[in-house]
Amino acid sequence: MGFLISFEGGEGCGKSTQIKRFSQYLTEKKVDFLLVREPGGTEVGEKIRQILLDNKSDLSPETEFLLFSASRNKLISEVVKPALAEGKVVVMDRYFDSSYAYQGYAGKLRLNDIKKITDFAIGDGALPDLTFLLDLSYEDGLKRKSLDENLKNLDRFEQKGKMYHDRVRAGYLDIAKHNKKRVFVIDGSQTPDQVFGEIVGEFEKRYNRKK
Ligand SMILES: Nc1ncnc2c1ncn2[C@@H]1O[C@H](COP(=O)(O)OP(=O)(O)O)[C@@H](O)[C@H]1O
Ligand SMILES: [Mg+2]
Repeated sequence: MGFLISFEGGEGCGKSTQIKRFSQYLTEKKVDFLLVREPGGTEVGEKIRQILLDNKSDLSPETEFLLFSASRNKLISEVVKPALAEGKVVVMDRYFDSSYAYQGYAGKLRLNDIKKITDFAIGDGALPDLTFLLDLSYEDGLKRKSLDENLKNLDRFEQKGKMYHDRVRAGYLDIAKHNKKRVFVIDGSQTPDQVFGEIVGEFEKRYNRKK
């Protein structure tokens, strides 16, 4: 069986930056891997992604979460599970912890409802072997984003205010506390090199153990 890794954390914490480096690292090591992002990753999933990120979409929290779950179901059953069955390393840019943190802890949905629907959407055999949580304050994340010219057009999630994003961060840390074996927390305010060093160190430890 393969090895499933998810990257989590608030806006601007460095997920995309680190996933890019980690992909280069896996390529150099000749590890067979697949990179996917949520929401999206399938034809239907990419259409759902457009709805979810569109500022013009008027979505209730329930609708929003169900759209995420529909996209997730397609991605996991059509892409992730087949890749794992082939023994690949699958790297996910966000996964279900994002639903708990954003729609649950920061939004209005009950964590128990999120659990029921998520379990239904992903079925068995799709829990991450390892989740990297890049922990960063809302202020630091925003500072980074405002320095980055490509990121000035904020999507629906990025537009929500400080209180919301503070709850996202606290939610993620609570998830980590309750999933100590799976979730590895990294201080996202470190330099990219420092963060990457922690990622590779932990990956090698866990991946070699499973192999
Ligand atoms: N460790 C870091 N220190 C300073 N800036 C960073 C760091 N990691 C990423 N950045 C910059 O912060 C911005 C957001 O990073 P990104 O990787 O896109 O975050 P995310 O995908 O989690 O939203 C980018 O401009 C990126 O170059
Ligand atoms: Mg990103």
